Amino acid sequence: MDSSISKLQSQLRELKASLKNDINNIHSLIELNQRKEKYIGKKSILVVILEKIAKLPSEGKAIIGKEANLLKVETLLLFEKKQKEIANKLLEEQEKNEVFDITLPGKQAKLGHTHIITQTLWKCEDIFQKMGFEIEYPYQVDDDYHNFESVNIPADHPARDSFDTFWTDDGQVAITHTSSMQNRIMLEKKPPIRVIVPGRCFRNESTDPRHEHTFYQIEGIYVDKQITLSDMLGTLKEFFTAFFETDLEIKFTPDYFPFVEPGGMMSLSCIICNGKGCEVCKKSGWLEILGCGMIHPNVLEMGGLDPQTYSGFAWGFGLERLIMLKYTIEDIRHFHSGNLDFIRQF
Ligand code: DAH
Repeated sequence: MDSSISKLQSQLRELKASLKNDINNIHSLIELNQRKEKYIGKKSILVVILEKIAKLPSEGKAIIGKEANLLKVETLLLFEKKQKEIANKLLEEQEKNEVFDITLPGKQAKLGHTHIITQTLWKCEDIFQKMGFEIEYPYQVDDDYHNFESVNIPADHPARDSFDTFWTDDGQVAITHTSSMQNRIMLEKKPPIRVIVPGRCFRNESTDPRHEHTFYQIEGIYVDKQITLSDMLGTLKEFFTAFFETDLEIKFTPDYFPFVEPGGMMSLSCIICNGKGCEVCKKSGWLEILGCGMIHPNVLEMGGLDPQTYSGFAWGFGLERLIMLKYTIEDIRHFHSGNLDFIRQF
């Protein structure tokens, strides 16, 4: 055999022996990388041998070439095995040394949070409860009598036109206001009656930045002997001061609602500009906030109460409007849009 081939063969044998020996003495990843460089790096002995083999005349080249390539594969496998061994050992040591602190809180999944409408509803309920009001919730689908007739809106009354109503096929009503509970409350309770009715209402109308087909109202009624309009104004002023956490003025302007006489709109001094006049209050300094008035004698009578003995007041306001004022939100349709960027702000 060609002497240069047998020389290369003995070099390969030496290399193999020293590799096995070296590999056993590797204890860290740094050492492993150094040895890797030595055995299969660009300037390693094996690479030099392979280059020499490539230049050999074809005779005998196949055998020595195969031997050299086998050694290369074997070397790579040995390093791979060693690398795994070292990594496992490191992991074991780390686990052994790790202190597990059982007092640390667990990781919690993000579960979402309460919608701003519900948060505000709870806040309103809380304030009214502290003022002595009970809470009753409405039926979302009710009958014509409770939504209309019993609050002084008979079938042919023109006020029906102002309530764009969703009707079911069998003549039931998706409630257009939470005044739908007034009659039941009066029949079921004895004066003094102090109740709020928060609930979801529906109107079959086209939507725009100030109108939604689905929205929340809080109706309230107060009935007893000798209740006057100033009791109403005092009660509502107290509520809004607590809600907006600021001193404010109120104003009552006559308006028509079939269930109250006199009826009116209550306005608050603008909470944004303090009554000075701004974009939100359209420079008037006032914000119209709710309809209210002294309960109509017909409504008291249908509720089983003698209007000669009892009087009372009622109001109804939209919950979204309060939230929109408090946070300067320009479009009521954001609330049910499903836009998480909007909802997560609160
Ligand atoms: N129910 C009226 C509406 O939905 C709001 C309202 C106005 C309620 C005056 C009242 C009231 O109790 O006295 O537009």
